[in-house]
Amino acid sequence: MSNLSESVLRREQCPTSHGKLAGTLSSPSNILVIGAGIVGCAVACELARRGAAVQIVDDRSPGMGATQASAGMLAPYTEAKDRNSLFLDLAVRSLDLYDEFVARAAHDSGTTVGYNRSGTIEIAGTDERMTELRDIARRLTGRGVVLDVLDASAAREQEPQLARDVAGGLSIAAHGYVNALQLARALFAAARCLGATFLDVGRVARISRRDGDLHVQTARSARTARTVVVAAGSWSGRIEIEGATALPVRPVRGQMLHLAWKDNHPLRRVTWGEHCYLVPWDDGTLLVGATMEEVGFDENTTTAGVQDLLNAACTLVPRVQGSGFLGARAGLRPGTPDAMPIIGWSRSMPNVMYATGHFRNGVLLAPLTAQLVADAVLSDRLDPAIDAIGPQRFGDL
Ligand code: GLY
Repeated sequence: MSNLSESVLRREQCPTSHGKLAGTLSSPSNILVIGAGIVGCAVACELARRGAAVQIVDDRSPGMGATQASAGMLAPYTEAKDRNSLFLDLAVRSLDLYDEFVARAAHDSGTTVGYNRSGTIEIAGTDERMTELRDIARRLTGRGVVLDVLDASAAREQEPQLARDVAGGLSIAAHGYVNALQLARALFAAARCLGATFLDVGRVARISRRDGDLHVQTARSARTARTVVVAAGSWSGRIEIEGATALPVRPVRGQMLHLAWKDNHPLRRVTWGEHCYLVPWDDGTLLVGATMEEVGFDENTTTAGVQDLLNAACTLVPRVQGSGFLGARAGLRPGTPDAMPIIGWSRSMPNVMYATGHFRNGVLLAPLTAQLVADAVLSDRLDPAIDAIGPQRFGDL
């Protein structure tokens, strides 16, 4: 726990009203949340807010897995691409929760969270891609989405830094981004202010049943809990759960660049190209993401990854060439066979709840995941969506 920053951990920094609130809540259940990434922190915070006694276990500081390498994009209509409408429904539901989700995390933790909903622009580099964007726009308009289809000159008017040869674009006003690491830390701090505790006892290896409770074996100790939420991202499948087959979650590496924009006229909004996306933060820096690599549990950045992203960014926005290079990050997205999250009760081990496999959208889906899990765990309320995203679709999990 030595590398956890004081601002994340010290309870005396909680807004005073929340210290009092936590003290008056009852503790209906003893819940252990495995994983302090964006999903684990969101779930722990929501459970604690609803009065549960929550413990969070991770072998690293909050958000230091995939979350720290996320650009925090909140763009369901772009992320959905060729995925099914279920994904879009979930992602739009989650986006609708975002204003309040961020405001509460910031308020309950007494910290600030960078959050911006100034929209996105998706750029077509070719006429063929522009035809596809027009098709997407037609379908989204049918759903009532506010958008603008832009020809080449309109796109460059909106974003003057774009390359001269772009074919056009699609701008969507509801989109935006959040500082994912700040948000995870705020959720973690808020959960602690609401009474949750953090266990620095190493990675969880095994969950078994003992005397009616769940026995959770970690690298350095063991704990019991009434309920366990598995929110360990790519590592979820490495936890042995007695009687259950391994979760089909695999790591998909994403590398991202952090650049210092040196221009007086930076991008105005999140800009998607066909080979990268650019997220202009309010502090004048720019995130460029992201690679998709099946390289196992390798969290290193590579020169090839950096080179590919730089080439893509400079092609889309040539002035990126003049920017400063602040660094590169890598994180492991938890991929599943159908690219959909796994949220729901285990069929093999009672009282084990999965909240994992969010692949490219852990940040976007965090508020809805927290709500679905808290409803199921504390109120026995199973949202109909869980039928489609539950673990049962992969067998005896
Ligand atoms: N959500 C964007 C990514 O995973 O790269």
